[in-house]
Amino acid sequence: MTNRQVIEAAKAHFGTVLEQQLERVERLKQEGDWIDYSSAKPIIIGMIGGDGIGPTISAETQRIIEYLLRAEVDAGRVEFRVIDGLTIENRAALMKTIPDDVLAAIKDCHVTLKGPTHTPEKGDGWPNIESANVSMRKELDLFANVRPVRLPKEGIDWTFFRENTEDLYAVGSQGINVTEDLGVDFRIITTQGSERIIDAAFSHAQRTGKTKVTVVTKANIVKTTDGKFLDVARKVSERYPGIDWDGWYIDLMTAALINPARQKQFEVLVLPNLYGDILTDEAAQIQGGVGTAGSANIGKRYAMFEAIHGSAPRMVQEGRAQYADPSSLLRAGAMMMEHIGFEDTGGKLHKALDICGQYEKKIVMTGRSTGATSKEFGDYLMSTVEDPNVESRWQEYVDAT
Ligand code: IPM
Ligand code: MG
Repeated sequence: MTNRQVIEAAKAHFGTVLEQQLERVERLKQEGDWIDYSSAKPIIIGMIGGDGIGPTISAETQRIIEYLLRAEVDAGRVEFRVIDGLTIENRAALMKTIPDDVLAAIKDCHVTLKGPTHTPEKGDGWPNIESANVSMRKELDLFANVRPVRLPKEGIDWTFFRENTEDLYAVGSQGINVTEDLGVDFRIITTQGSERIIDAAFSHAQRTGKTKVTVVTKANIVKTTDGKFLDVARKVSERYPGIDWDGWYIDLMTAALINPARQKQFEVLVLPNLYGDILTDEAAQIQGGVGTAGSANIGKRYAMFEAIHGSAPRMVQEGRAQYADPSSLLRAGAMMMEHIGFEDTGGKLHKALDICGQYEKKIVMTGRSTGATSKEFGDYLMSTVEDPNVESRWQEYVDAT
């Protein structure tokens, strides 16, 4: 093919991507209001096991969450449903990112709690289908990826609002090799998409008594799309006169997060998708590793809660699945309870996780037979969360220096 021909083919492809995104912008403009869970009877919670260590940590999480919400289940306020079939084997057999019946079952729930699902990458033996996470986020329009990282003793209390449907993720499987030597991906940032995530961050700050929102971009280099994100932040901030805000570049921010002199100054952070993906892994590591952090994927109608780590296929291959740490998914479960209106129970579970994972550490998980199993950790957590003194126990640890 001549250069002219490859350019024409690439232009046609680019045209299709733009058409789809312009349609999407129109849909965003029509978006409805936030769902009110208090009128949902019952609130339906879907449990999705996932791949690799997923079924192990999901089983442990379900056991604990079902126990904590047992009174709500008995009173018909909450219903649990197990959704099977979101496994890499089934997805590969059907060549579907999310099989139709699984998607329908998910849409019958209000919220889901999902174990990690394997994301195929070139050469790993699985067909190169899109990540189930990414697809679910797009399909259910779960635009806010909320990731808290807390180290109460160090005075760290961060909440990341990672945009979840745009940026390099929006059309990540629609990039093109224009020629054998020239690859192009597309980065999508829209006014509407930026506005709703930035507004969610500011409104969270206001609701929770925080005083500052930090907007993270690389707008000095990525001028058009990050520039738009920052412009929108400027506009949204005007609606929140009581909240301060500042802008940081992503590179310096990765340094600031591990700088003890800076760490405490951040409260709520809002950022485009890929920066958010990277920065929240770093933040989770500061808290004790990606196994300790939960993640909420929130949209106006649906919400999905998950661990921030992957399915750890190597642990399964090496026969270590039973040693997988369920903390991350339990954190997600605590966030889910808070999100659907059970703030007290969710808050207690967070505190029990702080005690067991950060302070008391009577049982330690190492991911292998040198440490505790998922079930043993679950038992430890259960006895902690059941303790009527869990709150004061937590306070004692936080106060002790
Ligand atoms: C995350 C994960 C996912 C992402 C992967 C598994 C697709 O890293 O939730 O942060 O990149 O968003
Ligand atoms: Mg990630």
